[in-house]
Amino acid sequence: MSSPTSSAPLRALKIGIIGFGPFAQFLTQTMIKQGHSIRATSRSDYSEHCARLGIPFIRDMDEFLQSDNEVVLLCTSILSLSDVVESMPFQCLKQPTLFADVLSVKEYPRDVLLQALPPESDLICTHPMFGPESGRDGWHGLTLMYEKVRIRNEAVCSGFLHIFASEGCKMLEMTCEEHDKLAAKSQFLTHTIGRVLAEMQIEPTPIDTKGFEKLFEVKESVANDSFDLFNGLYVHNRFARQQLKNFEVAFDGVKHKLLDRMNE
Ligand SMILES: NC(=O)c1ccc[n+]([C@@H]2O[C@H](COP(=O)([O-])OP(=O)(O)OC[C@H]3O[C@@H](n4cnc5c(N)ncnc54)[C@H](OP(=O)(O)O)[C@@H]3O)[C@@H](O)[C@H]2O)c1
Repeated sequence: MSSPTSSAPLRALKIGIIGFGPFAQFLTQTMIKQGHSIRATSRSDYSEHCARLGIPFIRDMDEFLQSDNEVVLLCTSILSLSDVVESMPFQCLKQPTLFADVLSVKEYPRDVLLQALPPESDLICTHPMFGPESGRDGWHGLTLMYEKVRIRNEAVCSGFLHIFASEGCKMLEMTCEEHDKLAAKSQFLTHTIGRVLAEMQIEPTPIDTKGFEKLFEVKESVANDSFDLFNGLYVHNRFARQQLKNFEVAFDGVKHKLLDRMNE
């Protein structure tokens, strides 16, 4: 099995992006810089934005799938994935295609896509563990998690992974299940605590400790993401439910310890 090292030559790919929201736009900048040929489609009209980037925006999904993509990259919200996939006319594909996704949960898109894709299509599930904020100054040292779910065309798959490897990403191959277990304990917990802090409307004070500054950063980083994203992290990661329960139990435990001491 060849590894997607950063020293391999870059293969220019024809990549079609479905869902041209903030994260897709962020990825597109780097893919254009690397010389890939990008076209996009989305529920909303991004034709002006795409024109500024010098790439085609193809409104019609039939036409988009007929447009000779080697890779179709799904960047829709977690909650809309199944509707989007259901509405895709796969019979329009002209060639076996590599489907890839970047959703922040992994078992769910793997299952939806395995059910819907034509058997000759390849599938890689990925999660770039960074976003427009953390990756603003480059992707070096940031992690790309991926699972090669069904790959026959190794050349296209390594070409796709090379987009990240060549930017210096830490390439981490793991199963979608393992990803979701870990992400519930890390990313989902971070978003939950950030949302709680936002509900409390915490603000900086003149006597902030370093710890509080970090808490405030957590609140701010989460506030930039859509509520759909947070909702999706919960609804479509089966391990998130347990994590929310653990959080409640731990919070109650801490509260009771305090109250018990006070009553002693
Ligand atoms: N933001 C990050 O830092 C980050 C990092 C890693 C992975 N991701 C993943 O990347 C994906 C995109 O994230 P995002 O930050 O751009 O924001 P998002 O709110 O999760 O997704 C926005 C995208 O979903 C599409 N969409 C939403 N509802 C839809 C519907 N009912 N039907 C069809 N399309 C719909 C939007 O299309 P229109 O714009 O056309 O309305 C837009 O392209 C998500 O799956 C997220 O988990 C995000």
